[in-house]
Amino acid sequence: MTEAGHALRSMADSALDRTVVPGYSRVGYALRSRLWRGAEGPNDDPDLDDGALAGAVVAVTGANSGIGKAASTQLAGLGAQVVMLVRDTNKGAAARDEVLRAHPQADVRVERCDVSDFDDVRSAARRLRTALPKLDALVHNAGVLPASRGESAQGHETTLATHVLGPIVLTDEVRPLLARAERPRVVFVSSGGMYTQKLHVEDPEYRRGRYRGATAYARTKRMQVALLPCLAERWSGDEVTVAAMHPGWVDTPGVARSLPGFHRLAGAILRSPDQGADTVTWLVATGRELSGGLFWHDRAPRPQHYLPGTCYSADERDALWRYVRSAVQA
Ligand SMILES: NC(=O)c1ccc[n+]([C@@H]2O[C@H](COP(=O)([O-])OP(=O)(O)OC[C@H]3O[C@@H](n4cnc5c(N)ncnc54)[C@H](OP(=O)(O)O)[C@@H]3O)[C@@H](O)[C@H]2O)c1
Repeated sequence: MTEAGHALRSMADSALDRTVVPGYSRVGYALRSRLWRGAEGPNDDPDLDDGALAGAVVAVTGANSGIGKAASTQLAGLGAQVVMLVRDTNKGAAARDEVLRAHPQADVRVERCDVSDFDDVRSAARRLRTALPKLDALVHNAGVLPASRGESAQGHETTLATHVLGPIVLTDEVRPLLARAERPRVVFVSSGGMYTQKLHVEDPEYRRGRYRGATAYARTKRMQVALLPCLAERWSGDEVTVAAMHPGWVDTPGVARSLPGFHRLAGAILRSPDQGADTVTWLVATGRELSGGLFWHDRAPRPQHYLPGTCYSADERDALWRYVRSAVQA
């Protein structure tokens, strides 16, 4: 492709990012996937050939539904051994059967792991350390948008425990496995909803003011992205690349259940779970060198702020990080 072609591609891609509705919908995915696949057509992405993940081991949390199940299927299709981490093993077994129907030769196992519960996370990690030779990638996909404020087994607000604290404990606990991989990667499935929020350093557990599940969700998705540099440093000894991404608006059981109005209204333009999972799979599988600490969407790094008032200082981020570090201490 010529230089002018690259420039046009990049302009079209950025324009989609700033026009939220088309960009996040299936329209955005359809347009972008043409751009990134280049002039040779849909099969010319050398990163994602069949077998791109042969010999790799990948674990996905919240793997029994929606984007997590789609990502597990795609990863298995690329040859990875997939560990589906789920809080309900019956649902997990049914999801595993679906993955195996798509890829009968795949190596797929189900492990119980409620990511919001540090004890459950630690016992899941113990089993993984015994069963697996290494871990090439860990995908923090499990997510919740609760109707009312709840707390985890250790007394942390549910979205904070599920999106931030539990994933850090899990990653800490499987570090010996990540350390044995050639290019270990940790991927957080965040959300475009994080663009609406700043860091609420003074109230990370959302104890003050009227609790709204959608706000708690977006605040903790913002935390995932804001803490990327701290997490990259925490796991840098093992050369772990840490990334966050957002999948766009995706038609999943979670959206239908938690946001029924939005689901009804946007139904026709929502992405499929496969489309939503595409960048997760790409971040795990791409042979390209990835810079750590970035926020991705549709296979490209994206800005971390669009709205005035959501920026925070390094001091605020460090204060949140101090809170998080003390909360996840064993
Ligand atoms: N769909 C979208 O438009 C959209 C947009 C932006 C970001 N996301 C993010 O994408 C991720 C997947 O969401 P989805 O839309 O695919 O929703 P989903 O269909 O509800 O899937 C969420 C998964 O997370 C699991 N989960 C929730 N809490 C858990 C816990 N404590 N421990 C272990 N697993 C837990 C759920 O398990 P159960 O089945 O047992 O409940 C389920 O498997 C989430 O992080 C979400 O925030 C989605």
